Amino acid sequence: MSDQIRIVEMGPRDGLQNEKTPVSVEARIAFVEALVAAGLTTVEVGAFVSPRAIPQMASSDQVLRGVSHVKGAEFHVLVPNEKGYDAARAAGAEVVSVFAAASEGFSRANINCSVAESIERFKPVVARAKADGVRVRGYVSCVLGCPFDGEIRPKAVADLAKTLWDLGCYEISLGDTIGVGTPLKAKEMLRAVGAEIPTANLAMHFHDTYGQALANLYAGMEEGVRAIDSAAGGLGGCPYAPGATGNVATEDVVYMLEGIGIRTGIDMEKLLTATNDVAGLLGRPPVSRVASALNAR
Ligand code: HMG
Ligand code: MG
Repeated sequence: MSDQIRIVEMGPRDGLQNEKTPVSVEARIAFVEALVAAGLTTVEVGAFVSPRAIPQMASSDQVLRGVSHVKGAEFHVLVPNEKGYDAARAAGAEVVSVFAAASEGFSRANINCSVAESIERFKPVVARAKADGVRVRGYVSCVLGCPFDGEIRPKAVADLAKTLWDLGCYEISLGDTIGVGTPLKAKEMLRAVGAEIPTANLAMHFHDTYGQALANLYAGMEEGVRAIDSAAGGLGGCPYAPGATGNVATEDVVYMLEGIGIRTGIDMEKLLTATNDVAGLLGRPPVSRVASALNAR
């Protein structure tokens, strides 16, 4: 496993979208700047969703505009429909992410439509993006379990991933939204998806609710997956995924990768600063093991 792993940083989007403490636009911009300074080259910075549904992501246009001067990094934003796409483009988005779920229960709760309806909403987004030269990433949520529908069959994940791939997404990010997966289940799911689309175009987006995310990521790396979504400080969660905690922490991922000889290009001290600064704004210490260990030095 000596080859490269790509990290897609989720802190400013997934990380902050469920936080009770409001974080100003200026602080969100500063967070992105600090993450890029630490060496993160792909950062999801916001979501063009209903501000009534996710008030924390309101003003994502100002955040995206506010980081346009930052060089050497690619910025992603979520868009659920054409309205979101219009707003994202107006703010300068060059990569957008659509998000579907492998379960009807989560789709309904999260985006207020069935899985099939969500695909219909994405079709014009992807078509317009293609015409505009905008790249589209596709998420599949609840790949290892759903808070409403329970067990999810790997085949359901693979079918939906294939649908998003056939639409034209360049990468499919597979979300263990509620962090219930374990390594063998993760492998089984990734094999099922890998039978439909190239493993090189998959990403793992694992939440760490039960402390399994690193083990699941390692299992997925053994299957050949080479992209990892993570959030500084282990921030994150989705208001429509009750009980779920944050994404796997970026610093925990970096520590593991560097420890097994995979160079990440990320400066741990600068990442720790970014993590601690945002934790300070939120009024509590970071939950990640690596941040706790380093902060105790
Ligand atoms: P809806 O109610 O079906 O949509 O919501 P609608 O078209 O009927 O519109 C309802 C209202 O929303 C209207 O406003 C629209 O203008 C507005 P009103 O007239 O009531 O004032 N609206 C919008 N506003 C801003 N931007 C838009 C937009 N679209 C409609 N793009 C909708 C559908 C998807 C909009 C809504 O359900 C929503 O915003 N949901 C939020 C979903 C979300 O952001 N969830 C968290 C991110 S997903 C996640 O965390 C999982 C992930 O991390 C992977 C994983 O972990 O598995 C990606
Ligand atoms: Mg997530």
